Amino acid sequence: MILEKDYRISEIDPRVYGSFVEHLGRAVYGGVYEPGHPTADEQGFRRDVLELVKELNTPIIRYPGGNFVSGYNWEDGIGPKENRPRRLDLAWRTVETNEVGVNEFADWAKKAGSEVMMAINLGTRGVDAARNIVEYCNHPGGSYYSDLRKSHGYAEPHGFKLWCLGNEMDGPWQIGAKTAYEYGRVAAESAKVMKWVDPSIELVACGSSNIAMPTFGEWEATILDHTYEHVDYVSLHTYYGNRDNDTPNFLARTLGMDEFINSVIAICDYIKAKKRSKKTLHLSFDEWNVWFHSNEADKKVEPWTVAPPLLEDVYTMEDALLVGSMLISLLRRADRVKVACIAQLINVIAPIMTQNGGPAWRQTIFYPFMHASLYGRGVALLPVIKSDKYDTKEFTDVPYLDSIAVLNEEKDELTIFAVNRNIEGGLDFTCDLRGFADYSVVEHIVLAHEDLKAVNTADNPNNVQPTAGGGAKADAGKLTALLPKASWNVIRLAKRS
Ligand code: AHR
Repeated sequence: MILEKDYRISEIDPRVYGSFVEHLGRAVYGGVYEPGHPTADEQGFRRDVLELVKELNTPIIRYPGGNFVSGYNWEDGIGPKENRPRRLDLAWRTVETNEVGVNEFADWAKKAGSEVMMAINLGTRGVDAARNIVEYCNHPGGSYYSDLRKSHGYAEPHGFKLWCLGNEMDGPWQIGAKTAYEYGRVAAESAKVMKWVDPSIELVACGSSNIAMPTFGEWEATILDHTYEHVDYVSLHTYYGNRDNDTPNFLARTLGMDEFINSVIAICDYIKAKKRSKKTLHLSFDEWNVWFHSNEADKKVEPWTVAPPLLEDVYTMEDALLVGSMLISLLRRADRVKVACIAQLINVIAPIMTQNGGPAWRQTIFYPFMHASLYGRGVALLPVIKSDKYDTKEFTDVPYLDSIAVLNEEKDELTIFAVNRNIEGGLDFTCDLRGFADYSVVEHIVLAHEDLKAVNTADNPNNVQPTAGGGAKADAGKLTALLPKASWNVIRLAKRS
């Protein structure tokens, strides 16, 4: 690999280390909120979970959905808890008690050190509810909804800056799914009034639910035709799995993610050109992760219960490798991907797991996300990579080495994130550090395990965890390291004082 100080992709927007909490399964009830738990604080929030969320240093958390939001009446979750209705959530076939709503979530996010990325319902609702929720959350006072918020004990506005215009509106599974034309119109009109209430907010329009949607491409072009001048981002979602247990193929899936990102950028720029617009649209990759382990178990869950275990994927070592590669893909396009949310945060396809009444622990995927969030702040550098390659049934020319580097100019620190996709052997890694001759290695963190299917559980929470003994060395601008087979590596360098 060659790294050159002046070959820059872009400043990294910290919001690429965002996450997501949906009213789904045990994400909120049993994750965020469990009043009877031994660690619960005065608001019923689990302190043990908050501590783990803080370790992830996630700057923004998307809420309250997801599919859930497309049937959600936000007014159900405000005011005295005893008056809040129990509703059928048609998205996940559960009962929503509404004990947690927007105010409680804002409090929780503050305790976690994160901002809220608020999603509105464009499935069953529209322009009217859209303007009202912005007024309730962001208007200082002197109007019906802002004064209602004050009467609920929130004198100061929440000031949410980033809002999603619905969720996956192209998907037939979505409550109130829409054609691109229908969605484009309601999204544009909602965007207009939301910004009239609070001109400081930024908005995300729904792109396709994934690149395999039959309407992918056409959907983006149509909805952006309507919304381009009203919104700031278009969303992307993707989940990967290793259903046929073909690990080399699974680890190559980020080649598809790169293609997805590049395609959406191309469509945004096509609309920009067509409209002769001066504005460049950015991307919000606001759902990404591995999701497949729990698919079968979820089919057996009893409907219409409160907070049943749903989407509780137990992540393996190899899942952590793919999550590492997904982070690298996001950083590779740091020039256009400005927001990204690992989906999700607690219990539901999540880096953090809990038992009701019991402990909370870190899943395997917790680590690459935490490392990227902690050390991936600054400028993404464009690496030149020469690596041996392999072919799989779905991908050709897959480099064994997947890597990116981040320069933190304030701290004079350089961090290299690298995945060795080779499950058979180690990789001799050399990096020509041009312009970094006066940097030396601070630590080389490695996440690896003999068993690629190894997991962390309540009984064995530290089965898969990083070690700091990777052995990378830098001398006169030349870095050498052995990247163990199937490993996630974080090589941290700093300028010698
Ligand atoms: O994150 C789980 C679900 O995946 C979300 O509710 C939905 O937006 C997506 O299909």
